[in-house]
Amino acid sequence: MFRTSDKTAAAIIRALERELEAERRVQEQARGLLIQRDLETANARRDLKELNDKVELLITERTQVLSAARDEAVAATRAKSSFLANMSHEIRTPLTSIIGFAELLLDPKGTAAEKSDSATTIIRNGRHLLEVINDILDLSKIETRQLETERIEVALPELLSDIEVLAAGRAKAKSLKFTIVHHLPLPPALSTDPVRLKQILLNFCSNAIKFSSQGEVRVDVRHDLARQHLLFEVSDSGIGISAHQIDRLFKPFAQADVSTTRQFGGTGLGLYISKQLADLLGAEIKVNSKLGKGSCFSVSVPLNRVAKPLEMLTDSRDFEAFHRPAFEVTSIEVPELSGRVLLAEDGVDNQRLLSTYLRQAGLTVDVASNGKEAVAQALSKDYALILMDIQMPLMDGIEATMYLRAEGYPGPIVALTANVMQSDVARYRQCGCDDVLAKPVDRLQFYKVLQRFVDTAQQPDLEEEDEYTRELRALTEEFCAGLPSTLTAISRASEGADWHALKSLIHTLKGTAGSYGYPQITAMAAEVEAQLASGQTETLPTMCATLIRRAVRAIGEPAAL
Ligand SMILES: Nc1ncnc2c1ncn2[C@@H]1O[C@H](COP(=O)(O)OP(=O)(O)OP(=O)(O)O)[C@@H](O)[C@H]1O
Ligand SMILES: [Mg+2]
Repeated sequence: MFRTSDKTAAAIIRALERELEAERRVQEQARGLLIQRDLETANARRDLKELNDKVELLITERTQVLSAARDEAVAATRAKSSFLANMSHEIRTPLTSIIGFAELLLDPKGTAAEKSDSATTIIRNGRHLLEVINDILDLSKIETRQLETERIEVALPELLSDIEVLAAGRAKAKSLKFTIVHHLPLPPALSTDPVRLKQILLNFCSNAIKFSSQGEVRVDVRHDLARQHLLFEVSDSGIGISAHQIDRLFKPFAQADVSTTRQFGGTGLGLYISKQLADLLGAEIKVNSKLGKGSCFSVSVPLNRVAKPLEMLTDSRDFEAFHRPAFEVTSIEVPELSGRVLLAEDGVDNQRLLSTYLRQAGLTVDVASNGKEAVAQALSKDYALILMDIQMPLMDGIEATMYLRAEGYPGPIVALTANVMQSDVARYRQCGCDDVLAKPVDRLQFYKVLQRFVDTAQQPDLEEEDEYTRELRALTEEFCAGLPSTLTAISRASEGADWHALKSLIHTLKGTAGSYGYPQITAMAAEVEAQLASGQTETLPTMCATLIRRAVRAIGEPAAL
């Protein structure tokens, strides 16, 4: 019995032990699971933290970007408003002078000298105001990508002469020396947009003059043979620019520092516009400057044409032929013309001003205040020229011109307009205008255009001219008429190395030109003759090319009889 129960007990114990074992295993599994869950939780927590960090980083970055954008927008707005404030200052300053000096002009007690001084000041300030407005217009064209450039053949001597005429006067007014240095040989011409290239160079020159109080402003012109570029360097002995300011200069509205505005004025647009123009011309601008020492702004412009070796300018006298006296506001030569002109213009002040210009040139003027009147008058009277404003009430200038042309009106019509973008000009020509004059009208340009279309007045004393003068005048005309064929013959002889023929041609030209009032042709012919006599023929083709250029230039001007 006991044995049996012992057995049972042992069995129970074993069963219990098995159960315990199973229980232990379950517990261990549970512990394993727990550990695994802990691990997973830890991992998840780490992932979460990483994610959190990433999000936070992203937020910080985004905030930085946003706040930088906001700062930029605020700075741009600030730059624009300070630009506007500065601009209104730039506009008010010349206007104040214009109004003030115009009032002085009306003062009956003023002397003639004071009046002429007032008038000069008004003109100078008016021109400056026009420059400021042109800059603003250029800026808006740049921002709307409407700035157009053209590509035409530009003679280098003429381009440099224009720069000299415009910049030398300003430099002189500040007692600065102004020189253009030609590094010969130079190509005679380049193919580019002359107006825009001159704008860049004049911006450089006017900055150089503005920021220098003593010393010299100098323009160096070099031929970059390898790149077939022309390099213009404008250097000054002025205040200079520090390295960290240089980067900002080509941004719009930027001046080296705010005190510049106070001290020197200006809108801060010049260099920005220059840079944009240079990009359009395929040119490159560089700056080199030392604070307190001076600056050098350069522009390298593609020639866009190949100069033949014989064409190269090798003599600095080639530049002198184009030399014109420095620009002066008061001395404009009024041509003597004859005929009747119709001025179609609605602005009363412009009517008065242009009528005065026309009458001063000896012309009879009829005024029409709108296109309809212009058409009626043009069809009822004979006019040597019609000056046609474009924007007019009732019928504008384009419509009036088209109407007249449709009616078969044959006379010349010149458009007068403030919209002189290339596309506008092309449109005016298309609708029948022969030429376009920009407003505000430049008096010199105005007379030039008039002379193209209107007859020159008969000299009143022509009848009283003695026999000799009349004969000489006729002979001079004959000489000028024959000159082109003489020059062609000279060119042929020099190119064909026919020295014998050249000698006789040159000798005749030398003997005659001076007597007909062209001593400069005689002088150059004498040099060629001397060269021929010396037997050194290699420089002859260049000398002949110079002679031809000078002769063509000379007969474009009146003979010094
Ligand atoms: N030759 C120079 N010497 C010293 N500083 C110059 C020179 N040229 C330009 N700068 C600096 O560059 C700035 C920008 O020149 P920019 O021609 O664009 O404007 P501006 O001359 O101030 O005004 P604006 O030409 O529109 O009348 C000038 O304000 C000046 O600080
Ligand atoms: Mg400037």
